[in-house]
Amino acid sequence: MNSRERFLAACACQPLDRPPLWIMRQAGRYLPEYRALKARSSFLEMVRTPSLAAEVTLQPLHRFALDAAILFSDILVIPEALGQGYRFRDEGGIAMEFRLENTAQIDALAPANAVPERLRYVADTLALLKKELAGNKALLGFGGSPWTLATYMVEGGSSEEFERIKQLFYTDRPTFDQLLEKLTAALIAYFRMQIAAGVDAIQIFDSWGGIIAGPDYEAASLQWIRRIVTALPRDFPIILYAKGTAPQLMDQAFCGARVLSVDWTNDLAIVRRTLPGNVAVQGNLDPVLLNTTPAIVQRETARLLESMRGTAGHIFNLGHGILPQARLECVEALVTTVTTWK
Ligand code: CP3
Repeated sequence: MNSRERFLAACACQPLDRPPLWIMRQAGRYLPEYRALKARSSFLEMVRTPSLAAEVTLQPLHRFALDAAILFSDILVIPEALGQGYRFRDEGGIAMEFRLENTAQIDALAPANAVPERLRYVADTLALLKKELAGNKALLGFGGSPWTLATYMVEGGSSEEFERIKQLFYTDRPTFDQLLEKLTAALIAYFRMQIAAGVDAIQIFDSWGGIIAGPDYEAASLQWIRRIVTALPRDFPIILYAKGTAPQLMDQAFCGARVLSVDWTNDLAIVRRTLPGNVAVQGNLDPVLLNTTPAIVQRETARLLESMRGTAGHIFNLGHGILPQARLECVEALVTTVTTWK
């Protein structure tokens, strides 16, 4: 069984001798070869140039025995394709070109059907990757959730308190819904393009799902995700990662996503026992562990694997993205522990 088959079997909740493994943000600053490329090309150049984006996507797979490649890109290519560009602040975090403040600005965003054309470089990158991986490794596409993208667009970038997006949600629901509908349509067009380009699964990043009040998670985020999942081919594997939403897991389990990716605050074995048997789980080591020592990583990885022994439908991953401070020998310890697990 090759990596791609193992990955798809885990999505389908079939029993396996060991879970497939990939790492959120596996191509990134902790890799010296990524930093070397970035010294020559900006992040946005790398994202927009298919040969570079494909090269960066494959960097972690050349170093480690991972089972899946994830497209090198960013969730913010969608706001950009709609007409609201982004850049990285020198002090860290994201700055959008402007802040979305009114209906006229939402009306002025490009229509959803402009997205596949404007993000054609993504389809081109995926075509290169598909050829290179030759069906041996799973190829993952991704995008942000409508809610998580709306936070960046309405806040005007990274945010601490998310006051603007929450105020919009509570004070002007028609405008909020107008924006979220637009994002939902754009994401459906984008994901259809990724599927046509041959991805094996798509991960939806609802990275800021946990900042809205629990009882409002449905109206603010989950209903839009459900619309996206419903619009995609039935049974196509969708992974939903919604950080900080442990109380909403059961609702997420019925949104149509085949896999729920959970953060480290969850006990994964309990999540596995609680969720319906046809929904797979992904996760959930604390990324900070990869900043410690190989012995600690080996111990905590084995502990998680042991807790999942005898269960089906588990994709091994972190509970969020790997940090730039992660140590290569710790990543190696994680990969060796998972791939030699008996
Ligand atoms: O997983 C992968 O390897 C695929 C690549 C990937 C990136 N961004 C590359 C990236 C993925 C899946 C993303 C998704 C993304 N982008 C999310 C959701 C995932 C999550 O972690 O919750 C979010 C919220 C973003 C927006 C974003 N892009 C942020 C907040 C940042 C960090 C800005 C900072 O302060 O540095 C980015 C930049 C980014 N995206 C980097 C990478 C490798 C670092 C850019 C660099 O090289 O400096």
